Amino acid sequence: MKNLSEKIKQLREDFLKGSLDEKDCPDNPFELFCAWLDDAVQSEVPEVQAMTLATCNKEGKPSARIVYLREFEHHQFYFYGNYGSRKAMELEENPHAALLFFWPDLERQIRIEGMVNKAPDGLADAYFNARPRESKIGSWASEQSRVLGSREELEKRVAEYERKFSGKEIPRPEWWGGWVLKADYYEFWQGRKSRLHDRICYRMNGDVWKRYRIFP
Ligand SMILES: Cc1cc2nc3c(=O)[nH]c(=O)nc-3n(C[C@H](O)[C@H](O)[C@H](O)COP(=O)(O)O)c2cc1C
Repeated sequence: MKNLSEKIKQLREDFLKGSLDEKDCPDNPFELFCAWLDDAVQSEVPEVQAMTLATCNKEGKPSARIVYLREFEHHQFYFYGNYGSRKAMELEENPHAALLFFWPDLERQIRIEGMVNKAPDGLADAYFNARPRESKIGSWASEQSRVLGSREELEKRVAEYERKFSGKEIPRPEWWGGWVLKADYYEFWQGRKSRLHDRICYRMNGDVWKRYRIFP
């Protein structure tokens, strides 16, 4: 353990792959998000659509987990999951949330913050219907974030729902759906040499985006 801890302490990467200059930053941060996401897709960054979702409960205690970005348009970022889960409870108590993408191959990080609402049922239905059958069964079988006695109990529930829906269409469970975060803050981080990174932020001010650079 001591060796591992020593090893971790000594790990050091310099970031040399790019830079972010104001002249390359459009007025609208959503355009820059799309351009960077496109770069990440073109570069075949693994799990490019995986983002950290940070939420807080009503006492202000934070929690974070990875979810997949599924749709995005005009500063709106959609993700899906179980409405009985811990994140769902926290979003009920406190709709402020943060998203984070880290694409190591590009030495880039994007932070996005805003308010979250439930996504319309129509969108959740469309996304759920497009999922593989096994994922749909999983959504029925999983009481996400609740205590589970054993792996066997989960597998039994999966088998029960497979029987129940055998030969039938699988509808979206009412406790499964989407959320949409409406961004009012973005930060684009490009790693640079000697920790002198570029950080360009955008904050919604009234109805205009204010852009500024912050210290690394
Ligand atoms: C790569 C990856 C993708 C994931 N995608 C989702 C997702 O889209 N929706 C989701 O609810 N959980 C997703 N999860 C699982 C979550 O990280 C988490 O375990 C789950 O949502 C329960 O979190 P909660 O108890 O805080 O609500 C993903 C996990 C990983 C590692």
